[in-house]
Amino acid sequence: MRTVQAIILAAGEGTRMKSEMPKVLHPICGRPMIGYALNLAAAAGVKQPIVVLGKGFELIKPHLPKEAKVVIQTQRAGTGDAVLIAKKALGALSGEVLILYGDTPLLRRTTVQKLIETHFKTAATCTLLTAHLADPSGYGRIFRDETGKVVGIIEEAEANTAQRAIREVNVGTLICNAQALMDALATVTPSSSKKELYLTQIVAHIAKQEGTKINVSKVEEVSEALGINSRAELARAIGVIRHRIVESHLQNGVTIEDPQSTFIDYGVSIGADTTVRPYTVIETGVSIGKRCTIGPFARLRGGVSVSDDVKVGNFAELVRTKVASNVRINHVSYLGDAIIEEGVNIGAGTITANYDGKEKHATHIGKGAFIGSDTVLIAPVKIGAGAVTGAGSVVTRDHDVPAKGVVAGVPARALGTNGAKPEPESKENGAVKLKSDRKSVTAVKVKPAKRLMVKVKKKAPAKGKAKAKKRSVAKKKTKKITKKTIKKTTKKSKR
Ligand code: UD1
Ligand code: CA
Repeated sequence: MRTVQAIILAAGEGTRMKSEMPKVLHPICGRPMIGYALNLAAAAGVKQPIVVLGKGFELIKPHLPKEAKVVIQTQRAGTGDAVLIAKKALGALSGEVLILYGDTPLLRRTTVQKLIETHFKTAATCTLLTAHLADPSGYGRIFRDETGKVVGIIEEAEANTAQRAIREVNVGTLICNAQALMDALATVTPSSSKKELYLTQIVAHIAKQEGTKINVSKVEEVSEALGINSRAELARAIGVIRHRIVESHLQNGVTIEDPQSTFIDYGVSIGADTTVRPYTVIETGVSIGKRCTIGPFARLRGGVSVSDDVKVGNFAELVRTKVASNVRINHVSYLGDAIIEEGVNIGAGTITANYDGKEKHATHIGKGAFIGSDTVLIAPVKIGAGAVTGAGSVVTRDHDVPAKGVVAGVPARALGTNGAKPEPESKENGAVKLKSDRKSVTAVKVKPAKRLMVKVKKKAPAKGKAKAKKRSVAKKKTKKITKKTIKKTTKKSKR
């Protein structure tokens, strides 16, 4: 029977990253680096990977699956030492051990699956994953004898000039018979330069044993071999993964106008015929429906789900928000912890003030509501179906706007209703809970701007002479005020 266990090495300090955070926690497109190694182990059919952690293990543990067996390497003493520490967790030394490095996130599942297949097909003792690199510096070189047989791996620090010229490198993933692996590790001595136990030294030992076979399997693409040791390499890895993510969406029927300026994290779903415009950031966990237009310059953060035929335009930021179909959020908006029902129009400059300094609160905007430009919705608050908020309104917390209600001003006050028959408010759709003790915005006697009154009361516009008279009265009033104001100001300045 084919049994494969996996050990993920992630105890290195990552000194070259110059970071306080463990290297394997640095995110790549919305997922910590170690997540990629964990995925590879899962793709190899391993249910309980052994993960070797070192400094900062408490920070890494929450990112591991429950099934993972964690072993701690208290002192960095080399990759060989790390595997020796994992020995206990392996239990019986039967079957094969797949070793993955936590810092090679670009490896594809198919590459690792091919490595395992090759290993079993050729009945090898140990199979190494290799790559031919134009610039092999930093990597262990695959050392072959004159017959072409692999006889060892030479680390860069120990290599002479001729050996450094070898372009075939060790990617850092291998599969080995468990017993042979441990037998070989028992013979490894500290390296002359770094005084570390190199896992790679097992190859020379195994090669010398009778009846053993060392095989290699090549990566499909050289970029897969990249080990992340520095920030520059991290940036390159992010670039490669980002490109792969964009490619997969393109294949699913999404238009991405400029892949170079589109940032889509791992774990995002986008429906066919949606267009993603340049300079857009879509973070992990977001789902977008069909025929939407997202961007340019939009940012969709965690917990956002957008239904079909939605427009999210420039400088719109959404977080933990559910958007139903046919909604327009065309410009300069922040929507957080909100439910936006079908057909809503969000005017430019709309903000849900969801955070009161202590807690986040929900905003619910009912079906077909029209949110005027520059509206601030102080959560928790509910805008009823078909309601209208005037430009510049500040709807204060718990002052719900009833269905078809029209409000304006600061704080927003009721001006009447939008249309004749108010519809009952549509039910919440569950994702965000709103407070139950709610007041409605009450009609108060205020003198709103004349134009707004005209609109709400649907008065016929004044015509001819009447119109001219009105205009001249308005002018005189303005003049009076201006003169008074000037007098006052002059007095003040004389004092
Ligand atoms: C290693 C390989 C090298 C290979 C390269 C590929 C060795 C000796 N060298 O070099 O042949 O070409 O990777 O990227 O294996 N780790 C531990 N405990 C330790 C030391 C390291 O768990 O004591 C972990 C690290 O967290 C890392 C991995 O092992 O995930 C590799 O260690 P690193 O120091 O990055 O090795 P390289 O010098 O890159
Ligand atoms: Ca490395």
